[in-house]
Amino acid sequence: MFKIITHNVHKYQEMKKIIPSLEMLNMEYPEIQADRLEEVVDFALNYLADKIDGNFIIDDSGLFIHALNDFPGVYSAYVFRTLGNEGILKLMEGVGDRRATFKTVIGVHIAGENFKFVGLCHGYIAEKPRGTNGFGYDPIFVPEAYDKTFAEMSTDEKNRISHRGKAIRKVSSFFDRFAPGTVDAEP
Ligand code: IMP
Repeated sequence: MFKIITHNVHKYQEMKKIIPSLEMLNMEYPEIQADRLEEVVDFALNYLADKIDGNFIIDDSGLFIHALNDFPGVYSAYVFRTLGNEGILKLMEGVGDRRATFKTVIGVHIAGENFKFVGLCHGYIAEKPRGTNGFGYDPIFVPEAYDKTFAEMSTDEKNRISHRGKAIRKVSSFFDRFAPGTVDAEP
C-alpha cells in the first residue's frame, strides 16, 4: 500500500488521478514554522518515518503573492483560516501587480529514504472569487495564460497545469524509473 498522509481530501483526490493506487491516511502531524516549505517537509518526513509503516508521501503547499513579498507563503494555512480569500482580496485592493505563484513540495518516504519533489504554477490573483470547484485559494487564483480560476476548472484541467499536478507527476516518474512496481501510475 502506498499512502498520502493528509487530512485534506481534495489533495488526495487530485493526486489519485495521477497515481490511482494511492490511498489516504487521515492523520495530523506537526508542521513547523520555517522560512521554506522544504524545511517543513523535511521535519515532517523525519517525524513520520518511525511512526508510519511502509512507504508514504506528504504535501505542503503555499501561495506566494509577489506584491506582498511572497505572503502568505509558508503561512498560507494560517492565513486561509484567519483572513480567507476575502482577506487576501482586501490586501490586494488597488494593487496593480497581481502576480502570484503556487508551490507544492511533496515529500516521499520510500525504503527508509526521503526525497522531495517541487511543482510551481505561476498566475494572478483574481479581482473577485470565482468558481466552486477545488479548495482553499482556488477561487482567487488564475493560472498564467488562462482566464479561469482554478475553482472554475475540473480536477483534470487543474492537474494538467497546477503546482501539485507537476509535483505528483515527478513523483510518479521517479517511481517508474527507480522503484518500478511501487505504484500503478497513469501514463
Ligand atoms: P497546506 O499544504 O495544507 O499547508 O496548505 C496551505 C494552505 O494553502 C491551505 O489553506 C490550503 O487550503 C491552501 N492550498 C494548498 N494547496 C492549494 C491548492 O492547490 N489550491 C488552493 N489552495 C491550496
